[in-house]
Amino acid sequence: MPITAVTGSASGIGAALCAQLRNEGHTVIGIDRANADVNADLSTAEGCQQAIDEVLVQADGTLDHLVLCAGVGVTAPSSELILAVNYFAVSRMLDGLLGAMSQRPDASAVVVGSVASVQPGINKHPVVEQMLSDDEAAAMATIKEANDPSLAYGGSKLAVSLLVRRKVREWAKQGVRLNVVAPGVVETPLYKASTEDARYGEATRNFVAPIGRGSQPDELANVIRFLLSTQASFMHGTVVFADGGMDAMMRPDRF
Ligand code: NAI
Repeated sequence: MPITAVTGSASGIGAALCAQLRNEGHTVIGIDRANADVNADLSTAEGCQQAIDEVLVQADGTLDHLVLCAGVGVTAPSSELILAVNYFAVSRMLDGLLGAMSQRPDASAVVVGSVASVQPGINKHPVVEQMLSDDEAAAMATIKEANDPSLAYGGSKLAVSLLVRRKVREWAKQGVRLNVVAPGVVETPLYKASTEDARYGEATRNFVAPIGRGSQPDELANVIRFLLSTQASFMHGTVVFADGGMDAMMRPDRF
């Protein structure tokens, strides 16, 4: 049975996914700050390395699937933390665990992005390329000065999506498929905190998808499970929006 590592396993989408995967017979290695198979703080390089080392021990060196779901929202204590968890941890975990998957047939990975990545103008902001060029010091300085958690969140989610797309050749050579799921609204603690935030609460509550509701974590877990599975065997480097139509509503002519 496949061995699958999932970050952000203790809550929300990650917790729903772990339950679904266990039901399907996967051996799941959950990674989170606490209450997980691997307890690690992914906001630092040391925390990521500890998580990678412990996953490799628990998985006995080979992994079939990886899902990077851990993330923090606009209510995080700082914009730097948003970049650290939502971008730099993802980059480190992808690099650190590719080798363990490359020996496995049908290996695949999914990164959780966000529809926030398509916010107008974010693609032109220098912080995105600073992240992608792995210039952590410059990205952190830029985002600290901007003091804009929404830019940090949308920028980090755009950067992870672009990172995945830039890895298609390297990962295909290793025989590992890699895709992004970009959710819209998912009813989780992260989303609830955003709706209650003094700065972003009203806008968050008013931003409703054409489908007329937010989603449940299980609805996102279903999409991630599909992308991991052999049913998605020709899908690689793609960004799948599971957002009730938000992306199409915001930029109908682009995809
Ligand atoms: P959540 O808050 O329920 O779960 C996130 C998990 O990540 C938590 O268990 C948390 O402990 C973990 N995490 C955060 N920082 C960590 C760190 N430094 N080290 C280890 N683990 C850490 O949130 P949710 O909604 O399930 O979010 C999952 C992913 O989905 C995130 O990447 C989020 O940005 C993304 N997303 C969520 C949306 C929503 O509306 N809920 C919309 C679009 C994207």
